[in-house]
Amino acid sequence: MKLLIDDANIAAIRRIYDLYPIDGVTTNPSILAKTGKQPFDVLKEIRDFIGKDADLHVQVLATDAAGMLKDAERIVKELGEDTIVKIPCIPEGFKAMKALSQKGIRTTGTAIYTPMQAYLAGKAGASFTAPYINRIDNMGYDGVAVCKEIQDIFDNNGMETQMLAASFKNSQQVLELAEYGIGCATVSPDVIESFVANPAIYAAVDAFIKDFETLTGKSTMAEL
Ligand code: E4P
Repeated sequence: MKLLIDDANIAAIRRIYDLYPIDGVTTNPSILAKTGKQPFDVLKEIRDFIGKDADLHVQVLATDAAGMLKDAERIVKELGEDTIVKIPCIPEGFKAMKALSQKGIRTTGTAIYTPMQAYLAGKAGASFTAPYINRIDNMGYDGVAVCKEIQDIFDNNGMETQMLAASFKNSQQVLELAEYGIGCATVSPDVIESFVANPAIYAAVDAFIKDFETLTGKSTMAEL
């Protein structure tokens, strides 16, 4: 499972990239708004930092297919042809996904709350589909179960569309989907930092150092 950062804060992205094995970055208009900066300035800074081979997902704003195509063309013009364009899974969105797929522009079907939306996005040629795990949970359903159902639909129909599960609020949701073998998860920096926020881990590391110091008086191998 690929692991992406769901954020546009460059300092947070740099920190998470430095520490963890990360495959790319996803953004949405709300995430970009939080930066308070010009969207393409922020996105170009992210692209420059992560490199052209990492996945970068950027969302359109238009709600009609013709406008979505214009948004998509501007996104790939500014950020590179490999940039993946997020398109909301509404009827005009499916129309745009079909057209972009024919042009060879990769898309992510986003704003997914139901398996039917994901199925239609896959049929329309989307490379990825982004179900919103935590938002589905908050509606009284089971976001992880919806995601697994979508994966089964893709597998049972021989569809190549990958999952890009999104909207996580805890590490367990991410782990369950890694166990299921989905394609990608995009996760906010604070949830990624929670992956190993277990005091037992740090207590074990501290104990090893203390034991070593009783033998050598030093706390690293390099100091010996
Ligand atoms: C992904 O496509 C979504 O834009 C995003 O992950 C939603 O996350 P949120 O529910 O935490 O806002």
